[in-house]
Amino acid sequence: MTNRIGIIGAGGIGQAHIKRLSGAVAGAQVVAVNDIDQARAATVAAGIGATVYATDKELIASPEVDSVLVASFGPAHEASVVAAIEAGKPVLCEKPLSPQADGCLRIMAAEQRAGRRLVTVGFMRRFDPAYGEIKAVIESGDLGLPLIVHNRHRNPTVPQSYTADMAINDSAIHEIDTMRWLLGEEIVSARVDRPRPTSNRFEHLQDPLVLVLTTTSGAIAYDEVFVNIGYGYDIRCEVVLETGTVALTAQAGTERRDAAGARHRIASDHNDRFRLAFLAELQQWSDAVSRGQHAGSTSWDGYAAAAVCDAGVRASGTSETVPVAMIEKPAFYA
Ligand code: NAI
Repeated sequence: MTNRIGIIGAGGIGQAHIKRLSGAVAGAQVVAVNDIDQARAATVAAGIGATVYATDKELIASPEVDSVLVASFGPAHEASVVAAIEAGKPVLCEKPLSPQADGCLRIMAAEQRAGRRLVTVGFMRRFDPAYGEIKAVIESGDLGLPLIVHNRHRNPTVPQSYTADMAINDSAIHEIDTMRWLLGEEIVSARVDRPRPTSNRFEHLQDPLVLVLTTTSGAIAYDEVFVNIGYGYDIRCEVVLETGTVALTAQAGTERRDAAGARHRIASDHNDRFRLAFLAELQQWSDAVSRGQHAGSTSWDGYAAAAVCDAGVRASGTSETVPVAMIEKPAFYA
């Protein structure tokens, strides 16, 4: 059975997902598009022969739509996700599930009222083969316990609309989820260190910043978030364990050597760096929808990450270590 998908938010990643779903994901078809920018929705829909819906609610209610992919602006996610849940339709929501934990709690409440897991969060790094190898090394116990993680999240540039909070709840949220997933435990506190800022930034941004996270066991994860580094999209992760380390290496399959030295290509953006991860994420989600099952990260994962983001945002601009406030995990998400 083909999974007929409605896309809410046809901007950068919405269009990239449409491209993936239209060519490289088996058993999936994008049949509907909604965007508050109606002209954009019309252009994108025309390119794939999909129907344009004036509102997210109309798209969700349409009988031609089996499932929904939310790729709109973060603060708009909650309303669309709750509407999809109330219509009983599976929904893959791009991160953040909601920029604040409160919004995620309301989504979890709606999902529990619906009585089944319908929400998957777009934490695609969980599908990256190299991150998967790091997780396997940690779980093997071969190198002892993980003690420290050094993360780097570097973007070439961001638009002026990128707010200071987004460094935490839109960018660092990827490392926050990855740390929970790799280490298999929750994050209990956050601090934000503020090095000298680059001159290549909008005045309202602290760029770079270093988010310092502590987990339940006392492991510490550092995350350098530098969103105007210019040279490329460079994601690094090195885990220091008791008797060794394991780290992501350069993603390019080749190294060029010539009179100028040895070098490899650096990814240009998230679609480039995480191409395989996005495909695997979409394929797993669409297959699960077709089988009437849930797969991938849950609303609880979206909530737990958002709770850490809330602490990080509160810690920004101070030198304080802010505890993460979280509810007990409901049995529904066990
Ligand atoms: P974008 O600004 O390029 O596109 C967002 C689109 O959503 C725009 O076309 C806008 O008109 C539309 N929109 C905004 N509010 C809406 C609403 N209420 N209803 C319908 N459409 C609405 O942004 P981008 O980069 O595509 O990001 C979208 C989401 O995807 C964000 O939550 C972002 O954090 C996430 N994202 C995830 C990435 C990943 O690595 N997993 C990478 C890039 C973005």
